[in-house]
Order: sequence, then C-alpha cells, then structure tokens
Amino acid sequence: MSTLAIPSGLEALPLACALCGAAHTAARPTASCAECLGPLEVTYPQDRTLPDRDTIAARPLSLWRYAEWLPFLGEPVAARQVGWTPLLEVPRVARALGVGRAWLKADALSSVSLSFKDRVVAMAINAVQAFGLEAIACASTGNLANAVAAAAAREGIPAWIFVPEDLEQAKLVGTLVYGPRLVRVRGTYDDVNRLCAQLADEYAWGIANVNLRAYYGEGSKTMAFEIAEQLGWRQPTAVVAPMAGGSLVTKLHKGFGEFRAAGLVDGPRPRIYGAQASGCAPIVRLFERGEGQIIPERPATIARSLAIGNPADGRQAAEVLRTSGGGAAHVDDAAILDGIRELASLTGLFGESAAGVTYASAKQLAARGAFSPDDEVVLCITGNGLKTAESLAGDLSGVPVIPPRLRDVAALLSA
Ligand SMILES: Cc1ncc(COP(=O)(O)O)c(C=O)c1O
Ligand SMILES: [Zn+2]
Repeated sequence: MSTLAIPSGLEALPLACALCGAAHTAARPTASCAECLGPLEVTYPQDRTLPDRDTIAARPLSLWRYAEWLPFLGEPVAARQVGWTPLLEVPRVARALGVGRAWLKADALSSVSLSFKDRVVAMAINAVQAFGLEAIACASTGNLANAVAAAAAREGIPAWIFVPEDLEQAKLVGTLVYGPRLVRVRGTYDDVNRLCAQLADEYAWGIANVNLRAYYGEGSKTMAFEIAEQLGWRQPTAVVAPMAGGSLVTKLHKGFGEFRAAGLVDGPRPRIYGAQASGCAPIVRLFERGEGQIIPERPATIARSLAIGNPADGRQAAEVLRTSGGGAAHVDDAAILDGIRELASLTGLFGESAAGVTYASAKQLAARGAFSPDDEVVLCITGNGLKTAESLAGDLSGVPVIPPRLRDVAALLSA
C-alpha cells in the first residue's frame, strides 16, 4: 500500500472517500473527495499486526501507545507526550446521578494546553510534518487555537489561527502568547470555517480541522482507548461528552469499537450521550427529530467552545447517539454555570463551560431516567475552567472582605 509523501521519514496513511470509496491520490491533503465531495477517511493497512494488552501496557504513557490505530507509519516526530490524562473516580457524582460508579476523564488537565484538542492537534502537527507543509492553521472556537499555537511553537512551525471575534479573553491570550498569527474574524465560527476552506485551496498550509480533518479526527479515539485501559481493560456502560462539530462523540464510539474488534475489551459498546448548550444545539435537535438533516443555528450561548451552528460531523454524531442506545440533552446558560460550580464542588476539578454543559446534561439525563443504578458512567471533561473563568467572575461579589482581625472572622462564623 502506498503512502502519500515521506519527507520527514514519518508517513501519513492514505485517504479514501467515506461515501464513494475513491482513493485520494493528490500529493497534498484536501478536505473532501475529488469525485463526489464526500468526507475522506484514513485507510489502515489490512495486514497490520495489532498489539495485545501487555504490549500496550509496557509502552510510554502517551496517546502514541495506541499507534497502530493512529494514521501514521513510523515514529511521530512531534507532540510525543500528549495524552494519558487522569481518569478520576468521583463517588459524589455517582450519588448525584444515581448510578453505580462514575468517573471524569480529565482532559481539562491535558498537557500542554489544557483541553482534549491536544489529542487531535497531535495528529495534525505530525501530518504537517509528514506532508512537508509550510504552516499549520485552524478555524477554532478557542481550545483548538490554544492547542495548535502551543504545538506549532514547540516545533518552530508557523501557525495561522482564525477565530470568531467574540472569544473569551483567556482563549485569545492563551493563543497569542505562543506567537502565532492570530486573526479574529467578524462573524460566527461557521463564517471562520468557510474562510478556512477557501484558504486550504490557496496556500500550502495544513489546516487542522479542514484539509487535515481525516487525520486530526483520529486523535479523539484515544480518549476511548485510555478510558478502557484505565478501567482495567473494560468499557463503561455509558459515556457523556460535549459536542461542537460532533467529531468527539463519533470517534469515541469508533474507538471503543476498534478495541472490541481487536479483542482488547469485550461486551457491548457504551451508550454515548451528547451534550450541547440550548443556545446552540443543532445536533441534539436533530437527534430529537429522529431524522433528516442538521438545521443550522446562529449560536447564542456562553459555551463558546461548543458554539458551532452548522457542525461538520453533526449527522454522524446524531447517528452514533442513536445506534449506541444513548441519547442527548441541551442545557441553558444558567444551568451551565451551575454545572461548572457543582462539578467543581463535588469533584475538585474546575472545568470550562463545556464541562458545565456536560455535567448539567448528565444531571438532566439522570432526571429523565437515562441511567440505572447498575450504570458505570464516564463524563468527558474536555477543557479547563481557568480558560472561561470570566463567566463566574460575578460570584466574587458574595465573598467577604475583612480587616485582618480575629473578631471579624468570628463574626463570619456566627453570622
Ligand atoms: C472543550 C471542548 N469540548 C468539546 C468540544 C467538541 O468537539 P467536537 O467538535 O469534536 O464535537 C470542543 C470543540 O471545540 C471543545 O473545545
Ligand atoms: Zn467520493
């Protein structure tokens, strides 16, 4: 089987169309099939040898321990330490949800940029090197911007980052500090994405979530692989994850399926539940309608990281929620803020607005009877709370300010 280009010794696996099956043969990656405009997907060698549990367990603690399921041949040349975030058991959340056991997959603590986007960027930055591209770029709702800028800085690769104008300050500052070309675009994420699709035709850039999307998306599977291995080579019965473009939930499902096919875990795949903000919930609403296409929305929510009104993988995501036996929920901005606070106070983990969406949606699903006392549930906490701390700044007005005197503390105690 031939690969596309080999300037760095690292080879990117070939792509084929997910719809018509046509092989993609151009020297440079593109976003879609030249024949039918369908999405491209990675073609893995049929005859590859898959590792067993002991072989994987002996490898370094990064997402590359699952290299046989990732879209390259040869050693990665960048982002070698990404992955293997903690899986934290949270009994107080289990009680709140009325389930047997609960865990947080803590990508809020991901190295190096504190979100699960480090996983997908680990694929994209290696693809840029494998194809010998001039720069890495992305259209981002914030976390991808942070992850691309950080990875590019480490490798000394130029980065162009396009974001909607209205992102949180920490997401902007936490991108700019690495020294990329950061561009704020007047418009929504969907406007930014359309612009990037045009840029992909114009320049020799690897745009992580546009012309490198087939490679990039595979990185999200590693969250499923890690969950299974960290549970002792078992699957949970249910997983709750936030949705923006819809790629993560789709790849979680794919990842559990690949581990099962390889004999590394057995039993049914987990039910996958997708969570969105009410102010931008096109995937949840498609799931609730039960058929048809995504109806694009104009986002209006504090959960800016999830504010994608016309999600690229929306249909597949809704399909995964259905076929896995899971479900979907959306929650309003007040519930998102309460969700951030309650998750932090029950677990010690401060998640961003997407985490508030995930936790509040899990509570809503529990109230609707989605879970049983036998369930073992993993909540994917995909981004760090310090990145969206401004949404909770109002809480500070309730904090007492006192002179440094014992009697003033005593007064607080008796109040
Ligand atoms: C914190 C966080 N969680 C989840 C997602 C959703 O990812 P996907 O676009 O794969 O659905 C995003 C996307 O930007 C994100 O930033
Ligand atoms: Zn095609």
